[in-house]
Amino acid sequence: MIQFLLNQVLRTEHALDPNLTVLNYLREHLGKPGTKEGCASGDCGACTVVIGELSTDNDGAEHLRYRSLNACLTFVASLHGKQLICVEDLKHQGQLHSVQKAMVECHGSQCGFCTPGFVMSLFALQKNSNEANAHQAHEALAGNLCRCTGYRPILAAAEQACTQREPDQFDQRQAETIARLRAIAPKETGELNSGDKRCLIPLTVSDLADLYDAYPQARLLAGGTDLALEVTQFHRPLPVMIYVGNIAEMKRIEHFEDRLEIGAATSLTDCYAALTAEYPDFGELLQRFASLQIRNQGTLGGNIGNASPIGDSPPLLIALGAQIILCKGDIRRTLALEDYFIDYRVTARQESEFIEKIIVPKANARQAFRAYKVSKRLDDDISAVCAAFRLHIENGVIVDARVAFGGMAAIPKRAAACEHALIGAPWTSATVERACAALAEDFTPLSDFRASKEYRLLSAQNLLRKYFIELQTPHIETRVTSYV
Ligand SMILES: Cc1cc2nc3c(=O)[nH]c(=O)nc-3n(C[C@H](O)[C@H](O)[C@H](O)COP(=O)(O)OP(=O)(O)OC[C@H]3O[C@@H](n4cnc5c(N)ncnc54)[C@H](O)[C@@H]3O)c2cc1C
Ligand code: FES
Ligand code: FES
Repeated sequence: MIQFLLNQVLRTEHALDPNLTVLNYLREHLGKPGTKEGCASGDCGACTVVIGELSTDNDGAEHLRYRSLNACLTFVASLHGKQLICVEDLKHQGQLHSVQKAMVECHGSQCGFCTPGFVMSLFALQKNSNEANAHQAHEALAGNLCRCTGYRPILAAAEQACTQREPDQFDQRQAETIARLRAIAPKETGELNSGDKRCLIPLTVSDLADLYDAYPQARLLAGGTDLALEVTQFHRPLPVMIYVGNIAEMKRIEHFEDRLEIGAATSLTDCYAALTAEYPDFGELLQRFASLQIRNQGTLGGNIGNASPIGDSPPLLIALGAQIILCKGDIRRTLALEDYFIDYRVTARQESEFIEKIIVPKANARQAFRAYKVSKRLDDDISAVCAAFRLHIENGVIVDARVAFGGMAAIPKRAAACEHALIGAPWTSATVERACAALAEDFTPLSDFRASKEYRLLSAQNLLRKYFIELQTPHIETRVTSYV
């Protein structure tokens, strides 16, 4: 059974198919067709809905946090204990919501197919910032596609929605919503099942370990931005899932003197501030990671867990010397992230073992860390090549080097020959050229629709050259917009 608020209405669902997405639940079970299906793969934003959740401030006060996400990639079980707001909920007492009025008044809609998705992204933007600037508006809307209107009127609507904000029914009912969410907060492991499919929803790491032990064939579900595609794109049912998104311990970021410990189920949005404070380049990469909807639901653990050769965070984490804590039953082991990836989609994870935390060393003033993503589009696109460099240079000599790439091999991987060419050598263009040549020994990349093998190798070499130039001339800021 799962319980959640559909706007203000308590829903208790006993027997929904756990493979059902929130999009199909709204449209087919509840007869609410406002939320649209464009791509069913997280690319267009037509299905955007907003999730309200209880969140605790640093001073301990509880408040409501609203975030946009893609209903097409969200399984219904992940609604357990939360509030779901869809486009039908915005109109109140016969009046359009202020974000809807802004879309009308700024002529932000033509055929209207994308409009509910834009409206929901704007609603989340309005809820999260009183005076959103152009950058925040772009960020909030980068995951929504419109084929008719052009984006200028929609951006004008974003400005109007944020600057001429009026208190709405959600503000008026905030205390009531908080009380109702508190009342339905899960207190024990939940379960949603139908026929031979089930999704288990533990609340603690030890319950997760026990359940995974009992159901080793289960698939772990975090944000689902990857896993849900198995159902929506490949039509492969997932008979048993264990949802990790309600485990508070796995959504925590702890700050120690020398490291960050990030719970594997922490969303990429929640990782942003902590990682950016240590490594600004990590923040820039996260801003170019998919769309805001995907970052709101996708997790750091899921980005490692899917073992994709083109996942964005693993090359950065490997170059930083990150480790992961793997948990199986009551046994924990710590593994360097670079040793986790063994072969294409093959990892060192054992049966019933899961990633509990990611340990990221804090920045060290003597090390220069930079990261670069090369993709066909600036926003909402997956890397052709992702590079991360962390060098320690003293008196003009390279004392230590960690260089890692995504998109260059079957796994995210360190460039051993390149590092060997760098360590102990003077930090000069001649050394960099030798290290670039060594990259050809490290990698034999593949050609695919993202890039040819020649393009990938040349890009990797040019990114090392770019890193060298940037370190020599720190005022040059070229890395943000590196794309094909
Ligand atoms: C439109 C779109 C754009 C995208 N753009 C990018 C991009 O720019 N860069 C990028 O890197 N990725 C991108 N992705 C891929 C995906 O969003 C990320 O990999 C994301 O971090 C996955 O996290 P999740 O929580 O959604 O994982 P899920 O889908 O829940 O899980 C992914 C895999 O990891 C496993 N898993 C989850 N948690 C754990 C755990 N704690 N321990 C062990 N295994 C676990 C799951 O069982 C599953 O096999 C994109 C996806 C979409 C749909
Ligand atoms: S339908 Fe396109 S993102 Fe969900
Ligand atoms: S108004 Fe037609 S797709 Fe946006």
